[in-house]
Amino acid sequence: MGEKFLGHHCEWNLGSPGGWDYQRMAQELGRLSWDKIKRLSGIDIELDFGHSLLNPVPTFARLLLRAHKQRFGRQEAFIVLVAEEETLEKVGENIHFVNFLNRLPGVAAALASPRSLEAKGDAITLEGRRITVIFLDFNNNVVVKLRKKYNLNPLINAIRQGIVINPRGIEPIGAKGIFEVVTGEYKSLMSRTTVSRTPWTRQFYPRSTTGPSGEKIPDLVEWVRDHWERIILKPVHGYSGKGIIIGYQHENPDKSLQYALNSGGYIVQLLTPLNLWAEEFPWIDRKEGRVFVKRWQTDFRCFITDTGLIGFVARFGGVPTNVGSGGGAKGVAVLRSQIGVREAIDRINQAIVDLGYRTVAEIQEEIDKKAVEMGFVYLLGPIMTTLRPRIITPKHLSQLQYYSKNLWKDAVKLNGLWQAGKLTNFVDISEEEEEIARLAPWDGGPALICTDGLYSFGGHLSLNNAFI
Ligand SMILES: Nc1ncnc2c1ncn2[C@@H]1O[C@H](COP(=O)(O)OP(=O)(O)O)[C@@H](O)[C@H]1O
Ligand SMILES: [Mg+2]
Repeated sequence: MGEKFLGHHCEWNLGSPGGWDYQRMAQELGRLSWDKIKRLSGIDIELDFGHSLLNPVPTFARLLLRAHKQRFGRQEAFIVLVAEEETLEKVGENIHFVNFLNRLPGVAAALASPRSLEAKGDAITLEGRRITVIFLDFNNNVVVKLRKKYNLNPLINAIRQGIVINPRGIEPIGAKGIFEVVTGEYKSLMSRTTVSRTPWTRQFYPRSTTGPSGEKIPDLVEWVRDHWERIILKPVHGYSGKGIIIGYQHENPDKSLQYALNSGGYIVQLLTPLNLWAEEFPWIDRKEGRVFVKRWQTDFRCFITDTGLIGFVARFGGVPTNVGSGGGAKGVAVLRSQIGVREAIDRINQAIVDLGYRTVAEIQEEIDKKAVEMGFVYLLGPIMTTLRPRIITPKHLSQLQYYSKNLWKDAVKLNGLWQAGKLTNFVDISEEEEEIARLAPWDGGPALICTDGLYSFGGHLSLNNAFI
């Protein structure tokens, strides 16, 4: 019955993952859209937008309060979200979250640039007030970069004292090269779910290695050329989908291979067939005045903390599927009717198309208006969303919870290996970044990590032409 979700994660982000508040907004927009569609079409399918896993904001706040409590007990919390100066007025997610924290009893919060922190003896302060927890909105490479320009000693002190979430020592094992040991050398130390959800990955340079089925590969470059349709090359320091090369999209493998080898710092990974993580969503074409179903790629981020899975970000777009590359975010709903995901999707898509262009355009307009009011915008401008939510079942939620618990345990193990110097060859970071990471070793304590999944919950497109 397609109960088990399919697919792989394509990366882990352990530095300072975001998207929690975008998902809160996407949920509200998704619910608004669904209420209207349901009322107007009369469709008899029950969707639940209210499950606690569908809004990670309160649980994320609780994570910061746990970190506060460990150190400051019952004292009043002063949580500071530290972000790069030029983003302070632009990134709605951070502004909204600080407002949310300020509404919690016994909690004060502020948004600040790293330069505005001060040190008074042991205390790290903002405008004279002692900070009890910092959530740092950027990665260690940015700490290194800013440190060259400004005096960041108060922030460095805060990192060393352990009041910065995430502890900076967590970041290295989020490196894309780590998947090589998860699917190779340290596979036997990892949970079954982590291994089966991690795509075979190798650092890309002329070498011999083992392949996806454990077979010997005498010459990796040659192997990649021979399996060009099934692979993706990604820069280890890539972000927002920059620099990725999807084999089958490039007719001339030699040129791309040479490019990746010359640039250096690439990994090769098995491609998760695009149809497996694509779904159809109703979409409107304003120019032609029609509603139709459009294929989108769907990325599914899981947020995980020391207490387990706390929520998702459901993105959609092309390949790469990053909001930084023009992607959007959509609501997620739990299917409460006793029908399959495929049937639910088909019926909902049809019901929306049947409403006709004028009605759907009105709904869309209302959603767009609400989105702007809410601040559903990213650095590039308004974020797009879908009329229909991503649909998931209670069974998928428990599978994801189990997967997340295991992944957390495995991340702690890998971190231990990194601290012991056993992963240096797979984590390609500068000495200065390593110095920052070593200031605050992570021991499995409160942190927010995420994995980006290319998953199917049963709504994927036909797999006849598997890699498209
Ligand atoms: N193994 C893969 N199979 C198919 N597509 C992938 C794979 N890995 C990455 N992608 C595509 O590339 C995008 C970016 O990849 P990701 O590993 O998350 O790097 P980045 O750090 O640039 O976000 C993903 O959103 C997805 O669209
Ligand atoms: Mg990514």
